[in-house]
Amino acid sequence: MAKLWSGRFEQNTSALLDAFNASIPFDQKLWQQDIIGSKAHSKMLHKIGLLNEAELQQIWQGLDAIAQEITDGTFEFNLGDEDIHMAIEGALISKIGDTGKKLHTARSRNDQVALDFRLYVLQSNQEIRQKLVALIQTLLEIASQHTQSIMPGMTHLQHAQPVNLAFHLIAWCCNFKRDIQRLSSSFERHCYSPLGAGALAGVPYPTDRESVAQDLGFIAPTLNAMDSVSERDFALDLLYEIAMMMMHISRVAEELVLWSSYEFGFVSFSDAFSTGSSIMPQKKNPDVAELLRGKSGRSYGNLISLLVVMKGLPLAYNKDTQEDKESVFDSVETALLSLEILTRSLKDLTFHTHKMLEMAKIGHLTATDLADFLVQQCQIPFREAHHITGKIVAYAEHKGVDLSELTQEELISQDSRIQIGVKEALGLQSSVDARNSLGGTSTQQTKTQIASLQEWLHLEMEKLK
Ligand code: ARG
Repeated sequence: MAKLWSGRFEQNTSALLDAFNASIPFDQKLWQQDIIGSKAHSKMLHKIGLLNEAELQQIWQGLDAIAQEITDGTFEFNLGDEDIHMAIEGALISKIGDTGKKLHTARSRNDQVALDFRLYVLQSNQEIRQKLVALIQTLLEIASQHTQSIMPGMTHLQHAQPVNLAFHLIAWCCNFKRDIQRLSSSFERHCYSPLGAGALAGVPYPTDRESVAQDLGFIAPTLNAMDSVSERDFALDLLYEIAMMMMHISRVAEELVLWSSYEFGFVSFSDAFSTGSSIMPQKKNPDVAELLRGKSGRSYGNLISLLVVMKGLPLAYNKDTQEDKESVFDSVETALLSLEILTRSLKDLTFHTHKMLEMAKIGHLTATDLADFLVQQCQIPFREAHHITGKIVAYAEHKGVDLSELTQEELISQDSRIQIGVKEALGLQSSVDARNSLGGTSTQQTKTQIASLQEWLHLEMEKLK
C-alpha cells in the first residue's frame, strides 16, 4: 500500500530505508494508547462540528474492530506502515473508507506520539507504584514479627551495634517509600495532554484541548505546542526514578546474597526461588538476588541512552526522538518484573533469627553501651569512658570472650568507679532498647516506625485506586 504521506513522492522508498526508519517493530506496544487517543480526538472533532454523528460512530466502530484484531492476533503489522500510528490510521481507512481519512484532521503524528508515549509512561508509573506498595506491605508484615529479633547492625560491613531485624527491614522500606514519592510527584508534573499541539505550532481549527485532556484523564492540556511535541522529560523522569529504585533493589539484593551465604547464615531462599549448579550437586544458589542486583545495570544504561539522544536536539520534533521508546519499555518491564520477583521471594524467605543473635554476640557490640553506662551512671567524662571501655574490650579479647560475657566482678576490677548494674546494661536486648531516641532501634521506636509507614501506605493505596 502507498504510504499515507506519499503525495509528494514519485518513487517508492527503498526497503532498506523502511527497515531503518520504521518503529513499528517496537512501538506496536502503544496500540491501546493510540486507539484511546484517536477516540478522544475524534470525539472532540465531533464536538466542534468537524465530524457528524454518523462519521464519529463509523470511526469508533472501525477503531474497535482494529483493537479486536490486534487482541486476537489477526492484525498484520507491516514495516512499510512505519509506525503504530500510521498502521492504525491506514487500517481504519481500509476498513471504513473516506470517513477514516478525516481522523487526522487537526492532529500530527508529532502530538500523537507524544500523547501515546506519555499515556504509556503515566500508566507504567502507576503500575510500578502499585508493585512498590505491595513490596513495602510484605516487608512490614515480616518486620512486625521481628521487633525483638536481634542481629548485628553493621558499618563498614563490620559488627557495630546490635539492632533488631525489623529496624533493618524498615530502612529498606524507607528507600522504597521515597521511590513511590518520586514517582507520584513526576506523575503530577507530567499529567498534561499534549494532544492538539499539531506538528509544532498548534492547529488552525477551533479545537477543544480541555475536553480531550479531561476525557483522557489528564489534569489539563500542556501550555506550549512546541514544547509538547519536543520534550521527553516525562520519559527521562521515569527512567531516572526506575534507575534509582533499581539501585535500591540492588542493595537489598546484595544483602540477601550475603545473608544467604554460609558465613552469615541469616536467611534461606525457598527452593522455588533458588537455583542449582550444573556441576556441584550440593549447591543452592541465590541467582534471583544476584540477577536483581545485576538488573540495575541496564536501567542506568537506559537512562543514559535517552539523555544522550535528547542532548543538543534543536526544537521542535526530530526523528531522533523515536529512539526514546525501547529504553523506556525495557526499564519498565525490568522494574515490574524485579519488584514482583523480590516481593515473592521475600514472602518465601526464612529468617534464621537464632543465627543472627549468635552473630550479634561476636565483636563486643555493646562496647558503646559500656561507655554510655560509665558516663550516665559513673559520672565519667565520655572521652575517658571511651578509653576505659577500650581497655576492657582488650581484656575480653585477651580472655577470648565477648564483652557481654564478662562478669560483674571482672568489669569492676578494671575500674573501681564502675557500679553495680553494669552487667544488665551490656545485654543485647537492653542495648537495643536503650536506643529509644526518635528513629532509633528500640522495640518501641521500631513499632512506631512500622505504624507510621503503615498509615502512610494506607493513604498511598487510596490514591492509587
Ligand atoms: N514513529 C515516530 C516516533 O516514534 C512518530 C512521529 C513521527 N513524526 C514525523 N513527523 N516523522 O517518534
